[in-house]
Amino acid sequence: MPMSATLKSLRALADSTRLRILALLDTSELSVHELQEITRMGQSRISTHLGLLQEAGFLQSRREGKRSFYRLHPQAEAAIRDFIPIATRGAKELPEHGADQINLRRILNRRQEQAQVYFNQVAGRFDRSYGPGRSWQAFGQLLLRMLPPLTVADLGSGEGLLSELLARCCRKVIAVDNSEKMVEFGAKKARKNGLKNLEFRLGDLADPPIAPGSVDLAILSQALHHAEDPAQALRGAYRILCPGGQIMVLDLLQHNFEKARDLYGDRWLGFAESDLDRWLQEAGFRRIEINVVAREEEPPHFATLLAVASR
Ligand SMILES: C[S@@+](CC[C@H](N)C(=O)[O-])C[C@H]1O[C@@H](n2cnc3c(N)ncnc32)[C@H](O)[C@@H]1O
Repeated sequence: MPMSATLKSLRALADSTRLRILALLDTSELSVHELQEITRMGQSRISTHLGLLQEAGFLQSRREGKRSFYRLHPQAEAAIRDFIPIATRGAKELPEHGADQINLRRILNRRQEQAQVYFNQVAGRFDRSYGPGRSWQAFGQLLLRMLPPLTVADLGSGEGLLSELLARCCRKVIAVDNSEKMVEFGAKKARKNGLKNLEFRLGDLADPPIAPGSVDLAILSQALHHAEDPAQALRGAYRILCPGGQIMVLDLLQHNFEKARDLYGDRWLGFAESDLDRWLQEAGFRRIEINVVAREEEPPHFATLLAVASR
């Protein structure tokens, strides 16, 4: 005849060590190693008792690397759950109970401290050091999700690195570039990535092939310093923006690294904030804000300007 659930539970509880273990796990999930430290018992003894309690349905275990963690089974049958308060009451009657509780607090405090010690040590250099999973790419994806569903023009888009990111959350993205090869490559990649709302168009910054007043946001990322006439390019962006629309320009702060002309095909060696400000004003933009948002650590220490303005 199969043993009844109640009898099985009673058998599992008929041992002082198992009562102690249940009382400890009633407070927190613990690893085998932690249970050893708390109870001062050997690993094989602890593991045998944990095995019996798990088999009886009291516990659930999980592995994390080389460690096994145990906790009270969150979906234990009612017949088993009813025994937990009885088991913890039973544990309180045992002579080891006081020491078990003191050791448990010590272990839990140490866990907490270990996390804090690490962060206390790295505070002040945390943002400049490596952290698993932390990256500008990930932050960028998060920030993009905050955007409302906009129609965006990415002017001087290149292959569309930024256009593709934007297309994942914007209503529509129109990528404009005057290099046939860039447009061809970008369009093919967007198709391959299934981005139906990203359209590449061949055209010039001076007069983007986009209907007047039709986009919410115009972006020029490292494109303006390639324009023959930057002021004209900003007027072109103004024309395609709807009333209240915004322009965002990411470009280099004025520098004197002449080699940029040969190395990167640059026409302008970055821009002074004052020139950008004046051209934006002359184009008709208002609420102009220009800031240096990044500086490279390696020579020639390029700095990046972000100019934001409204139509
Ligand atoms: C440095 S890339 C920047 C690409 C992209 N915006 C980014 O941030 O990754 C500059 C791009 O602007 C394009 N470009 C240069 N002069 C242009 C012009 N007058 N009109 C339109 N695109 C232009 C180039 O073909 C190139 O793809």
